[in-house]
Parts: sequence; C-alpha cells; structure tokens
Amino acid sequence: MQKIDYRKELNPAQLKAVESIDGPYLVIAGAGSGKTRVLVHRVAYLVEKGVKPEQILLLTFTRRASEEMLRRAALLLDERCKNVSGGTFHSFANMILRKYAKLLEISNNFTILDQSDAEDAVNFVRAKLGYHKSEKRFPRKHAILEVISKSVNKSSQISDVLYDEYPQFMEFAEEIKKIRDEYNKYKRQKSLLDYDDLLVFLKNLLSHHEDVRAGLCAKYKYIMVDEYQDTNKLQAHIACLLAADHANIMVVGDDAQSIYSFRGANFKNI
Ligand SMILES: Nc1ncnc2c1ncn2[C@@H]1O[C@H](COP(=O)(O)OP(=O)(O)OP(=O)(O)O)[C@@H](O)[C@H]1O
Ligand SMILES: [Mg+2]
Repeated sequence: MQKIDYRKELNPAQLKAVESIDGPYLVIAGAGSGKTRVLVHRVAYLVEKGVKPEQILLLTFTRRASEEMLRRAALLLDERCKNVSGGTFHSFANMILRKYAKLLEISNNFTILDQSDAEDAVNFVRAKLGYHKSEKRFPRKHAILEVISKSVNKSSQISDVLYDEYPQFMEFAEEIKKIRDEYNKYKRQKSLLDYDDLLVFLKNLLSHHEDVRAGLCAKYKYIMVDEYQDTNKLQAHIACLLAADHANIMVVGDDAQSIYSFRGANFKNI
C-alpha cells in the first residue's frame, strides 16, 4: 500500500510529473509553483515503488537546497530518503573525482581552492608574469578570474568573453590568456582544483573514460536536477553524460529560454 496519497498532495500537473518515470523530462513552471515539491514527491514515489534511494541522484545548485530537499523527502516518506545520492554539482564532482583522480593524472588528495584562494593564485601568477596591477586599466584579480571562469563555463574563448561582456579589457586578451595558462599550470603542479576544475575534470572523466561513465550511469538510475535554469553548459553536459544510457532524467526550471537542450535527448516537455 502506498503511504502517501499523491492525489491529495499534488495538483494534476504536479501528479503527472511525479508519476512520469522513464525517459527524459523537462518541467518548466513559474517561480513558487511547486517544482521542488514535485521532485521531493517524485523521490518518495520512486522509493515507494522499490527504487533504492542510492540509485536516485538529485543535483542542485546550493548545499542548502539539496539538504532541504532530502529533508523534505524524509519527512514525507521515511528515513530511507536520506540515503538518496546527491548534492550540488560541485560536491558530487568532488566525491567522484576523489575516487577516480588517478585516471586524470591528478592526486586524489587534491585541495579545493575557494573563490578567494583562486583570486590570490591568479594574483600570484599575474605578478610572476610581470603584469602589474599598477598599469592603468589592467583588470584586477577578481575580474581576471571572472573572465577565465566564464570562458570555462561557457566553453568559449577568452576573447569572445571579453568581446561580449568586458570590452574594456579587450586589449589585454593575450595577457589574460597567458595568465590562464600559467594559472592552470600552477594548479596542476600543486594539486589544486578550483570550482570550475571540479566540473571540467568530472566532464573529462565522463567523456574519456567510458567504463567509469557507464558504471555511474548504471549506478544512478534516476537523475533529477532542480533549478535547471541556473545550469551552465558544462553542468548540462555532465548531466547528459550521466544519463546517457537510460535517459531517466527529469530537470525542472522556471525559465525555458535559459535552458540548454541535451544533445541527443528528446525531452518530453510536461
Ligand atoms: N499542490 C500543492 N499543495 C500544497 N502546497 C503546495 C502545492 N504546490 C506547491 N505548494 C507549496 O508552495 C510552496 C512553493 O513550492 P516549491 O518550493 O516546491 O516551489 P518551486 O516552484 O520549487 O519554487 P522556486 O521557484 O522558488 O524554486 C511550498 O511551500 C509548497 O509546499
Ligand atoms: Mg524550487
């Protein structure tokens, strides 16, 4: 017998999303309309159907959101929901990379650079290259890291990021590229990964090590992503690789326009 009366808990559109199990689904609905509620109920629904909680992977953008979601699911059903796999894209990447670091020729003891550590490293590299901040108009460490990060997350060239968003720094494109290359070298030498590296390395792991990707895909049979409108290209690519074999992925978001389409996956939009 089902413990939860989903009909009572959800409106018809929400119920349909909860009961849609196999295949890729894209759920677009307005802010505050109950998207997270759908995912929470869907977790409980899958567990009630006999899916092992560990086989469900729930990805979100903030740790708070992820803990809150699992807490709500546990309240709704029972403690089993606490064993659902998940977290932020970054925490998930961290967990997986600790295990498979060797395949990427990095130490599994890598240290994660937070934003301010990363800015300091950029600053260090800039000084080493002889680009001085006293030169007027040369971007500050914060801006340099922002440009580098955007180019990584959008998979676009430094010069394109500058052209689109930082035209005032166009003249420094070559210097910023050099800083980027040197910063990457510096991180590799010292076994440092910044937040973007976590995503890039996970993507590389999944793209270049088919056995690992297939193993993770088999492990996480149901994947859900909340706040999908905030997903960048890199994260969308990761989700796509993780779900490639079974395509059981539901992503929910509130803005259709900012949503990246999945290569090869044809979403049923409900
Ligand atoms: N069918 C429903 N019955 C009762 N309460 C509901 C229903 N749908 C949504 N709610 C309530 O509305 C509030 C907003 O829901 P929820 O947080 O799931 O929305 P959301 O779409 O994820 O919002 P956001 O856009 O902020 O992420 C919550 O308190 C939720 O419990
Ligand atoms: Mg929500």
